[in-house]
Amino acid sequence: MKSILEGRPALKQEVDKVAEVAGYLWQNGWAERNGGNITINITELVDDDIRKLSPIGPVTPIGVTLPHLRGGYFYCKGTNKRMRDLARKPMENGSIIRILDDCASYEIIADNVVKPTSELPSHLMVHNRLIETGSPYRATVHTHPIELIAMSHNRRYMGKDVLTNILWSMIPETKAFCPLGLGIIPYELPGSVQLAEATLRELEEYDVVLWEKHGVFAKGLDAMDAFDQIDVLSKSAKIYINSKCMGFEPDGMSQEQLKEMSVAFNLPK
Ligand code: 13P
Ligand code: ZN
Repeated sequence: MKSILEGRPALKQEVDKVAEVAGYLWQNGWAERNGGNITINITELVDDDIRKLSPIGPVTPIGVTLPHLRGGYFYCKGTNKRMRDLARKPMENGSIIRILDDCASYEIIADNVVKPTSELPSHLMVHNRLIETGSPYRATVHTHPIELIAMSHNRRYMGKDVLTNILWSMIPETKAFCPLGLGIIPYELPGSVQLAEATLRELEEYDVVLWEKHGVFAKGLDAMDAFDQIDVLSKSAKIYINSKCMGFEPDGMSQEQLKEMSVAFNLPK
């Protein structure tokens, strides 16, 4: 069977980027079994032939109504699919969906009937908001980074911007490349609309949020950009934890040094 990606280099490039990132998530130890999910908005890469494609799966409710997604197209990781498999075979471990005119349901159009991730409400609610605000961001990534999740098991890190300031102060680049910091979302059931609503709220202020005792969720220009922000935060968390393991509390950069970074790199905070 011919893949929808054949003869469509721009679309293939974006899906290949998802596959590359999926490999990094697995290599980092952040993607046990089916852990994590990635969704990208490919609407601008869709041509008339794709628009005419008949669905290959049933009409399925999203669970929420998202008015800005009407007629939109997304590549989504499949539920229960593994990142390590997606890295090699993105169209067997994910699928392309079309949002229907009711803005509340979708159908799968290619390549295989792979049901989208259980975190679809979070991904699509965020994409809906990105479109509404005219954002250039096209990707959302959820993953399970070990050190950041470990830190979310202690209340003292869960106050607003407590973790942001610790992580920024571990290495100068973290503030430069994750300039909005890390939002915090108290525990909610995976896949729930409550988790999606909390994610949407917190992403108004941040590009990356921490789901307490579960993982992180990030938005970015593309899958690589979203991954990069999670990666720099995770690097800082590793430095913090390594210092603690060596038996000392890391000094961290001073407030003056952090301020100097903001000026030098023209950062918002
Ligand atoms: P899916 O396999 O449905 O994408 O779920 C993985 C996950 O990490 C849920 O939070
Ligand atoms: Zn998860």
